[in-house]
Amino acid sequence: MKASVLTFFNNKGGVGKTSMIYHLAWMFASLQKRVVIFDLDPQSNLTAAFLDESEIESVWNHQDEGSTIYNCVNPLASVGDIAEPELKNITTNLYLLPGDIRLSDYEGVLSEAWPGSMGDSNLYRPMRILSSFWQVMQMAADQEEAEIILIDIGPNLGAINRSVLIATDYVVIPMGADLFSLQGLKNLGPTLRKWKNQWEKRLDNWKESEEASLRTSFQLPQGKMQPIGYLCQQHSVRLDRPVKAYDKWVQRIPEVYCEFVLNQDPKDNKHLKEEHCLATVKHYRSLIPMAQEHRKPIFNLTSADGAIGSHANAVQDAKQDFKQLAIEIAAEMGIGIEDE
Ligand SMILES: Nc1ncnc2c1ncn2[C@@H]1O[C@H](COP(=O)(O)OP(=O)(O)O)[C@@H](O)[C@H]1O
Ligand SMILES: [Mg+2]
Repeated sequence: MKASVLTFFNNKGGVGKTSMIYHLAWMFASLQKRVVIFDLDPQSNLTAAFLDESEIESVWNHQDEGSTIYNCVNPLASVGDIAEPELKNITTNLYLLPGDIRLSDYEGVLSEAWPGSMGDSNLYRPMRILSSFWQVMQMAADQEEAEIILIDIGPNLGAINRSVLIATDYVVIPMGADLFSLQGLKNLGPTLRKWKNQWEKRLDNWKESEEASLRTSFQLPQGKMQPIGYLCQQHSVRLDRPVKAYDKWVQRIPEVYCEFVLNQDPKDNKHLKEEHCLATVKHYRSLIPMAQEHRKPIFNLTSADGAIGSHANAVQDAKQDFKQLAIEIAAEMGIGIEDE
């Protein structure tokens, strides 16, 4: 069985995307789901959340084959092929393929392969390049018998993210409650549909080619990109701004999501309000730096880490909130989690 790929995506940055993936990864793992995380944002913030600087420096200095996503796919830029990923074991059930700032160099390789994949011949190499992230993801999931592949990407609509979305089964959209996030949503929905459509054309073109009949073991992603909902982040609100300003934007999200992401007429959708909002993510204030310092998710903080009094209560609340969210997202992906 192929592992499901879940990507968090919004072309507006600073919406708590990386923090959310970090916490959900820990939660899935603690709920006995085997997870592989891919940091496909060249900024590598997710990698920095999991590994300390000396560890990251060692990975980047050695440049061993397969040690980062860049080192897995970059052999394709010359005459080589994809390298087997070398995953970092973070905790039980949880593995990471570190990010790499050099991944930006691969943008050009992907852009070049895009038109080539629609030609009449020599399709194998461009199709292999365009699906290279997915190929590595499936190799990693097979290695670790993972069920869920979690992906972080940067906030843009470039060739790297297009290839990541081609590899994606399910999309969650983290949102801030502001004009910029809402505008981002208006770009994102149509872009996802465009990419899905363009990839389907490439799959058809490949299937009809002579090469496809010769390379029967070559598998390709389906480019499902199914949106399963959005997350609304309270922390993105400036604390000095009145609550009313937050509400104003939050209330507009369901309609924009419906129209631009689902491509449905909001007027036809009677239960617009709650349906697609997976959760409202709380502002965790001082728990965030405390968790970062101890390199653990906020819901694993203990009194020894400084989580005492009201902090201890907030830690327990966070555990419940993330657990519920993990179960809900897994359910949307058709994965059952037993809540004992
Ligand atoms: N729930 C939260 N409560 C408080 N601060 C948060 C929360 N989530 C994220 N942050 C902080 O907001 C900033 C942006 O978060 P990050 O996860 O890096 O966003 P993105 O990946 O979307 O750019 C970081 O400084 C992070 O620590
Ligand atoms: Mg980020």
